[in-house]
Amino acid sequence: MHRIQKAVNKAKGEHVPEPPAQSPEEINANSLEALRYSRTKVLPAHPDVLADNRVIASFADNVNGQIFRTLRTQVIQKMRENNWRSLAITSPTEGEGKSLIAANLAIAIALEVNQTVLLVDMNLRNPTLAKRFGIKAEHGLIDCIQGKVELQDILVNPGLDRLVLVPGRGSIGSTAEIISSPKMVSFFKEARERYQSRIVIYDMPAILPTDDVLSSIGNIDSALLVLEDGKNSEKDILRAVRQLQKTTVIGTIVNKYHKGSWVI
Ligand SMILES: Nc1ncnc2c1ncn2[C@@H]1O[C@H](COP(=O)(O)OP(=O)(O)O)[C@@H](O)[C@H]1O
Ligand SMILES: [Mg+2]
Repeated sequence: MHRIQKAVNKAKGEHVPEPPAQSPEEINANSLEALRYSRTKVLPAHPDVLADNRVIASFADNVNGQIFRTLRTQVIQKMRENNWRSLAITSPTEGEGKSLIAANLAIAIALEVNQTVLLVDMNLRNPTLAKRFGIKAEHGLIDCIQGKVELQDILVNPGLDRLVLVPGRGSIGSTAEIISSPKMVSFFKEARERYQSRIVIYDMPAILPTDDVLSSIGNIDSALLVLEDGKNSEKDILRAVRQLQKTTVIGTIVNKYHKGSWVI
């Protein structure tokens, strides 16, 4: 647990630097981005659907929403300090709360006016993000990597400013070829490097059941490890952390603590 504890401690209690002043190139990139977003499909998520699916970060009066805004502050601080622009949300096994936390954290970050967020469903075997926003995605990231559609045709704005979703679609049995394909690698690179003011959040699969996280994590700057309270043995947590060596684990979230509340 030592490494995890260290990561948690590192993520606590430091001053958040002001974002750097924008260069002319960046301002230009931002307006280009605005243009791009205006071509993105807008499928507004209904507040009731979001609430039912526990996607609450945009509700100002929600207590758990405040927890995600605090998490956002800690995460953005670390990312800015290190010039990291991409963040993986992962956990040792399925069902620990990765997608829920990825969705809420992405919204909380997008609430900052100077920050845009690309939220990517990287769980190619079991994508759930679109459904969480009440969106029925016709095409997903796999279709784009397989060259069936253009990336800009699958992007969705769920009706929240500065947030764009790259949904998943269906599920595939064999992911190895897709994850290691040149198109996938250039997607990671392009998503990270195109705009200075963008953070890319990847809703990842679970670490232990397959090689998917191990094969893709080297393309992502940083990671948050979600642990459902009491679910994993220490041995499994260490096995999972070992598979994240090609990135930097910036913190751990203990989820479903005492049957329902979040502890970060
Ligand atoms: N803190 C929490 N409190 C209550 N339910 C939660 C919490 N975190 C996750 N859940 C629920 O647990 C289930 C699994 O969460 P999900 O985010 O889909 O997990 P994963 O992406 O890790 O497989 C979902 O039904 C989700 O709504
Ligand atoms: Mg998930």
